[in-house]
This record gives sequence, C-alpha cells and structure tokens, in this order.
Amino acid sequence: MSAARAVTAVAGTNIALVKYWGKRDVALNLPATGSLSLTLDRLGTRTTVAFDDGATDRLVLDGAPADDAATTRVSAFLDRVRARAEIAGRALVTSDNSVPTAAGLASSASGFAALALAATRAAGLTLSPPELSALARIGSGSAARSIFGGFVEMARGERPDGSDAVAHALPEQGPDQGSNNEGWDVRLVVAITASGPKAIGSTAAMTHTARTSPYYEAWVAGVPADLTAARDAIAARDLAALGVIAERSALRMHAAAMAADPAIIYWNAATVSAIAAVRALRARGTDAFVTIDAGPHVKALCRAADADAVAGALRAVPGVSETLIAAPGPGARVVEGA
Ligand code: PMV
Repeated sequence: MSAARAVTAVAGTNIALVKYWGKRDVALNLPATGSLSLTLDRLGTRTTVAFDDGATDRLVLDGAPADDAATTRVSAFLDRVRARAEIAGRALVTSDNSVPTAAGLASSASGFAALALAATRAAGLTLSPPELSALARIGSGSAARSIFGGFVEMARGERPDGSDAVAHALPEQGPDQGSNNEGWDVRLVVAITASGPKAIGSTAAMTHTARTSPYYEAWVAGVPADLTAARDAIAARDLAALGVIAERSALRMHAAAMAADPAIIYWNAATVSAIAAVRALRARGTDAFVTIDAGPHVKALCRAADADAVAGALRAVPGVSETLIAAPGPGARVVEGA
C-alpha cells in the first residue's frame, strides 16, 4: 500500500430504552428482537484508522496499546472491511473513549460505530447509513444504532445475511412538534456505581440467558409490544409513557438474566439504591425513569429542566461516585480525512 490515508470519525454512545437482549445468530450478531435507543452527545468514541504497510493491525485504546482480545476483535472487524474494499493493508487504529472502556457504559456501541465509519472511508468505501449500520452491528449489536442520532429503532430483520437487521432514526418531529417540543427536551442522567470492567460480557450473558433462563422466551415475546408503545410515546412526545416502557424493559431484561442458571447479576448495592432514589423522586412528582445495561450503572431518563435535581438525588446515593448529564446527540460522522 502507498501513503496511508487517515480518517477520523466520531460517534456517540446510545442507551437502549427498549433493550436488545438475545441473538438469533451469534456470528452475525443478529438480534432476537428489535430495540429502541437514544444516541447521546457527551459520551462517545473518536477513532482514527489508517491502512499501511504494517505486518499486523495495531490498536491504541485510550492512549495505550490495547490487549490481545480487543485487538483481535478489531482486526476481525477490519477483515470484513478489507474484503469489501478488496485491499490487503493492515491498519493503525487509534481510539479514544470519553467514558471508561467496558465499564458498562456502552463504549462498544460508539466504538464500533466510529470504527465502521472511519475504517470504510479509510479503505476508500462510501457506504449508505443502513449499510454502515449493518456493518457496525457485526462489531457490536448496539453499535448499529449509534450510526444514527437522537431516537433510533433497530430492526430485528428476517434475512439470514442480516442485511435488514439495521437501525434507522425515528422522525425528529412529532405531528404536534410545535406545541409541545419544550416538554420534550430529554436528558439521560448517568450514575456511576462502580469502576472496572463488567462482570460478564454481553454476548456470553445473552447466550447464557437464552439457554438457561425460564424467563427468556417471555422476555422475547414482550419486546414487540414495547417497541410499538415506545414508538407511539416518542411520536406523541410523551415522556412519562416512554419512561414507563423504558424502566419496565430494563427490569424485565435483568429479570431474565437473573433467572438464568447460574444467575447473571449485574447490579450492586448502589444500583438498587439508585433505582429506589429515582422511584422516590417519581413518587414526589418528577418524571424520572431508570434504565440499566449490562453493568451496575443506573441511567435516569428525565426532562432537561429536571436533570440537575435528578443528578443531585443520585449523587446523594451511597456508592454513586459520579453523575453525568447527557443530551441527545447526532449520529456517527467523519471529522478528519476522507
Ligand atoms: O451491543 P452489545 O452486544 O454490547 O449488547 C448491548 C446490550 C445492552 O446494552 C444491555 C442492551 C442494548 O440494547 O444496548
């Protein structure tokens, strides 16, 4: 290969409000159900890819050479890009997260979305957003959603090759957008309840849940109705309706995982206390609703006007070390190169 062309892309992470938990195909990361999420502005990944004459792919993650497992995962992903672009060069990948990697704050979502965009452009390819979404999905199921900004729905898809298992942005504006947009300025308040990587990765945990949890089938069966209701709540700009669905979806997902044998328990004491704190706020009239991913941190969906109060209540919970307030953010984009 001649002179390396470096392309830098950024992507925000996303938090699912209707969770994805289970695969219909592990190799292609095809989800058992659809899902629905909000892409965030503050938490994300910035990734630069340059194909060159190196003997191997190299990954520098948050300023230090990555471990073998992370490098192998990125290299396998780059193999797909190389095959599609018909190039052979290895790559230097430099990736920086604005949240701790693998702390259960969905860095794989923004990571593989940014990587899909930077790597395809550096390889000379220009994919459509749905094509990028399908590619990002192979790196991490949730990454398919971070290609798009704001509220995003991921389709389960039916095809065995996964070409229809892609995300799309939900319409920015509801029919009555003009009249109640102000009430729809949402935030996600993130409460950090632990440090370090999560106990069990999402793929292993999903597979184990599907194999051993008596609640898995019920979980899968309930998702389509949640998706319909969440879509309607977003179209109507009804935060309370959306929040009820989001909290229920997260608790059902964790219930299915907890019922696996042996149990998968992502929560710690502060997780439970934070859930109680948000529900206590709600009992006093603040529309705030929890969601929890494959880790112990708690995220609260609320209005922008309530975000400081929600963050304050969460900071007062013993074991919560930090809170962050994130707003809806844009989809993945190229910021340098291309
Ligand atoms: O994208 P993965 O394979 O890390 O799975 C994400 C799983 C959850 O974050 C728990 C739910 C979701 O839909 O993002």
